[in-house]
Amino acid sequence: MLVTSKELVEKAKAGNYAVGAFNAINMESAQSIFAAAEEEKAPFILQITATTLSYTAPDELVAMIKALIKRASVPVALHLDHGRDYQTVLKFLRFGFSSVMIDGSLQADGKSPRTYEENIEVTRKAAEAAHLLGVSVEGEIGRLGQIGLEITAEDEALTRPEEAEKFIKDTGVDLLAVSIGTHHGLFKGKPVIRHDRIKEIAETIPTPLVMHGGTGVPDEDVQKAISLGIRKVNIDTEIRVAFIETMKEEIKKLEDEHKKADETEGIRKYDIRKILKPCRESAKKAIAVKMRLFGSSGKA
Ligand code: 13P
Repeated sequence: MLVTSKELVEKAKAGNYAVGAFNAINMESAQSIFAAAEEEKAPFILQITATTLSYTAPDELVAMIKALIKRASVPVALHLDHGRDYQTVLKFLRFGFSSVMIDGSLQADGKSPRTYEENIEVTRKAAEAAHLLGVSVEGEIGRLGQIGLEITAEDEALTRPEEAEKFIKDTGVDLLAVSIGTHHGLFKGKPVIRHDRIKEIAETIPTPLVMHGGTGVPDEDVQKAISLGIRKVNIDTEIRVAFIETMKEEIKKLEDEHKKADETEGIRKYDIRKILKPCRESAKKAIAVKMRLFGSSGKA
């Protein structure tokens, strides 16, 4: 059943857990997310970036995910991850998403920072449109590190509580992504998660907080962050790693089979499903582990 992410995170706040938000990039990764949620009886957020949607004709992936939502027995929100501008948000609203992120912290190129005022302007406009349709909105204040752009826990890019308070008042967003020491992609070394900053922000505003870059954050840091007010944790890279590592193993097995076939003058077989099925299974297991870690298992 399709719900908004606001509904999911408010329940999570009341129950002191976090909802997992998992990125789907193709049919198999979407299927693994739904399968994990069914097994774990976990409410969840299925998120897609604009880049992913342009990997296929946009309506193709959405149609497939909508079929999965229709069949799901657990509540799910369909969310745009990192919408960079108003036009992108409108496009996803038209596709029937129940939740959108307008990331006004960076310009449409995804690299150059926007000023605080520019962030407010783009976020407020997108939030107004989404709210008219009953869709929940995630904003971002502070700057999360991108892959290859290291941001340390001491960096001035961390979210400041007083700015967060003003941002919520000025934009009316329902969820707030905060910069607290995580970044997207794999970490080099152990990340320094600024729990003190999460606590300060959560004590300043009641808005459910979002941790981006959940991959590689140690379990104890994730749990502590949840106890302090993180209500949505984003996971993307971890799913890709599970998928691709299994794919490498399966291709190795296939190569061995082909070698044997060549030696015995047998026939080489090419079955893509034989490779993708175990990948889907590995991704599902990785996702289920996260659902248990976030405390969302059994909450549907
Ligand atoms: P990871 O790729 O680090 O898991 O981050 C996912 C994310 O924050 C998507 O917005």
